[in-house]
Amino acid sequence: MTIATESVFQKNLFVGKSAVVTGGGSGICLGMATALARHGAHVTIVGRTQSKLDNAKRGIEAEVIGARILALAADVRDPSALAHVMEQANNAAGRIDFLICGAAGNFLCPAEQLSTNAFKTVIDIDLVGTFNTCKAGLEYLKKSQGSVINVTATLQYKGTPFMAHACAAKAGVDALTRVLALEWGKYGIRVNGIAPGPIDDTAGMDKLLPSGTKEFYQQTVPLKRMGRVRDIEFATLYLLSDAAQLVTGHIHVVDGGEWLAGPMNVMSGNEESIKNDMANKREKYNASKL
Ligand code: COA
Repeated sequence: MTIATESVFQKNLFVGKSAVVTGGGSGICLGMATALARHGAHVTIVGRTQSKLDNAKRGIEAEVIGARILALAADVRDPSALAHVMEQANNAAGRIDFLICGAAGNFLCPAEQLSTNAFKTVIDIDLVGTFNTCKAGLEYLKKSQGSVINVTATLQYKGTPFMAHACAAKAGVDALTRVLALEWGKYGIRVNGIAPGPIDDTAGMDKLLPSGTKEFYQQTVPLKRMGRVRDIEFATLYLLSDAAQLVTGHIHVVDGGEWLAGPMNVMSGNEESIKNDMANKREKYNASKL
């Protein structure tokens, strides 16, 4: 099967537009931010670590000649930090047209071992952080009749073992997307979600897919491959463009049919080796925080 790498959208699609992308310092959301820059938008990337954001900004600028990128550190759990981000993004570009709420956290842990704080931390980042970002951007989106994309997941559709925290958070994000679409339609604001399946070569996948299961996993996807960041970029361009001008309250799944087939059930088998794998990954995470 041919796998497209070039955007089918016009290069100048988003000239004169401005986007704020939380979680834009790495992974899928960095791809989304880069895709918007490639199509002419001013992009503000937001994350917790300034040095990571500065690297991401340099990467985008190296690839996209003339890209206008602002890199601002803020934690989506902090509404006043987000208010400041929106103000600076608006000052830099003169407007805000698009919000991409992508900041998220996840790890594998059985519910019976999950602390209340761990559960709450993921709810706070993924769900409350998305709410905070949407609220902080609202006044600007009203002026631009802009559009929101909340980055969600498919984990929660059937439930995924060891991810009670993320499943609960993303189910909440989907509900929030639908309610905001209902409430903000009167302002001309569209609110949609993108639900990526597992995406190859991202830190998230490294963290979440049990080691040694990738080959088996790919065979269970109806379209026989993992997603690429590029697939999510294409969905972003579509949803933010006028091609989707009547689309709101929609969760756009980009997963090759993965969730229908249900291969995340690899998680249900072989508990012992998955537990060892989780312990190794957690050790790696703890070491990275030192
Ligand atoms: N298993 C079980 N509990 C874990 C865990 C793991 N692998 N990783 C963290 N926790 C727990 C911590 O022990 C703590 O709970 P406690 O106070 O009861 O001990 C709680 O989660 C908060 O951890 P902390 O490291 O203080 O939170 P943080 O805000 O610095 O980090 C996380 C947030 C935990 C979501 C972290 O994984 C993160 O920053 N992730 C961002 C990137 C990411 O996950 N990307 C992948 C997306 S798919």
